[in-house]
Amino acid sequence: MSQLSPQTTSVPQLNPDAGAEQIIAAGLVAAKGFVTLACSFSVEDVVLIDILHKVAPEVRVFALDTGRLNEETYEVAEALRERYALAIDWYFPERQAVEQLEREKGLFSFRANLDNRHECCRIRKVEPLRRALVGKGGWITGLRRAQSVTRADLAAIEIDQVNGGLLKINPLLNWSDKQIWDYAKEQGLPVNRLHEQGYPSIGCAPCTRPIREGEHPRAGRWWWENPEHKECGLHQ
Ligand code: ADX
Ligand code: SF4
Repeated sequence: MSQLSPQTTSVPQLNPDAGAEQIIAAGLVAAKGFVTLACSFSVEDVVLIDILHKVAPEVRVFALDTGRLNEETYEVAEALRERYALAIDWYFPERQAVEQLEREKGLFSFRANLDNRHECCRIRKVEPLRRALVGKGGWITGLRRAQSVTRADLAAIEIDQVNGGLLKINPLLNWSDKQIWDYAKEQGLPVNRLHEQGYPSIGCAPCTRPIREGEHPRAGRWWWENPEHKECGLHQ
């Protein structure tokens, strides 16, 4: 994508057991400081905001407001705004694209088939993400290997070919559920109330349900689809 100005060509070599702070530090150097955090207000992203507040408070935080998020998610955003005096860069979908989609296909078109689902994610998430990444050399995510079969090969820092060749920095890639929750509890972080109601993974309200005992953590995301399809275009 040509408008991403501070292009980075090489991925820093990191020790396989590098910690979150080392990964962030290496990513900031490699991307020459042009780095932003993508925040969905999951517990992972709240942990990252807390770590960044301590080690790199200059990093800005952006969020994609798809128009279909849960109230509980907005509550976390407000709690973080107050706790860290955080100015979140919100990105909305293009108004005309949403209006056309809703006029022509209704409000739940994503349930009909995979093409429709991708269309909605493209309009509400992927296109706004492209705008959020303009001018950036790297973006930080809360992705973890343990989350999904589609994320098992994740690297700490990788070239993000999907989003135009900037760096993708995944400081929590090796963290377990327990590590994440221990950190959040020790620091008294505000977490999404839906997590304790059976939602390990939270996306848009109509496309996320709580999971049942023994189900995979992402089983509640687009639950009507096969596991290998459970990405929305932000990451694949
Ligand atoms: S998704 O692709 O299935 O929706 P997931 O919910 O697991 O992603 O979140 C993984 C990471 O993607 C988050 O930690 C965050 O960095 C980024 N992300 C997901 N949704 C958003 C959003 N609405 N706004 C900003 N970043 C997001
Ligand atoms: Fe649309 Fe569902 Fe994708 Fe949200 S997760 S953008 S509502 S299809």
